[in-house]
Amino acid sequence: MDATGAWPLPFWIAHRGAGKLAPENTLAAFRLGARHGYRAFECDVKLSRDGVPFLLHDATLDRTTPERGLAAERDWSELSRLDAGGWHGRSYAGEPLPSLDSIAGFSLANGHALNIELKPTPGEELRTGQMVGREVLRLWADAASRPLLSSFRPEALLGAAETAPELPRALLLDALKPGWLEQARGLGCVAVVTHYPLMDAATVATIHAAGLRALVYTVNDPASARWLIASGVDGIITDAVDRFSPAEPR
Ligand code: G3P
Ligand code: MG
Repeated sequence: MDATGAWPLPFWIAHRGAGKLAPENTLAAFRLGARHGYRAFECDVKLSRDGVPFLLHDATLDRTTPERGLAAERDWSELSRLDAGGWHGRSYAGEPLPSLDSIAGFSLANGHALNIELKPTPGEELRTGQMVGREVLRLWADAASRPLLSSFRPEALLGAAETAPELPRALLLDALKPGWLEQARGLGCVAVVTHYPLMDAATVATIHAAGLRALVYTVNDPASARWLIASGVDGIITDAVDRFSPAEPR
């Protein structure tokens, strides 16, 4: 298995749109991140009951909408009417959950790069990877650069590799368990994205020696960022879009 897509991302990547300054994973967050100079965005994508890819971090609607329960038990016609902004503050009330389709439109119109994290509802891993992969190929059909697909869930990456082998893939890691690098290579990944305390110069060197890129999430303090940059990482995912300027030299 081989992911042949070109590397699509600049160094600085805004987490969930614009991190914590706007409601995560909404178009409002992407707009805010873009106003801070960000040109690349990470977002979490899962499937509605009727198979529409849309942005939501949690499996349930509880934290970021007025509704309760699993998002995957509802059709997109219902999910698309929910308020995904009011929980964050009154100024964002009524902000909808975006479909991947609408985020693709925004990203393509503005020349933004995307890191789509496959965030399957438990039990939906393979199907989520398959359907998001297919949908990304359709939405970015004419684009010069296409999104990086990442996931903590190997089955989701396998699904994406089935339907969209040409899209670049990355394995997300919240621990470095024995065999992590072999797993990333076996999944045909072009990058490994770790929780940032796991990364150091030796780990970066190991990843680079395997021909992969080394990225980290979610770095919000300048001292950690400086240390990781000195360690040689290839990209940083951050909430702190008001603190780190992609325009400044590293
Ligand atoms: O993709 C990196 C990061 O978003 C993974 O953690 O929980 O914020 O989706 P989480
Ligand atoms: Mg994420």
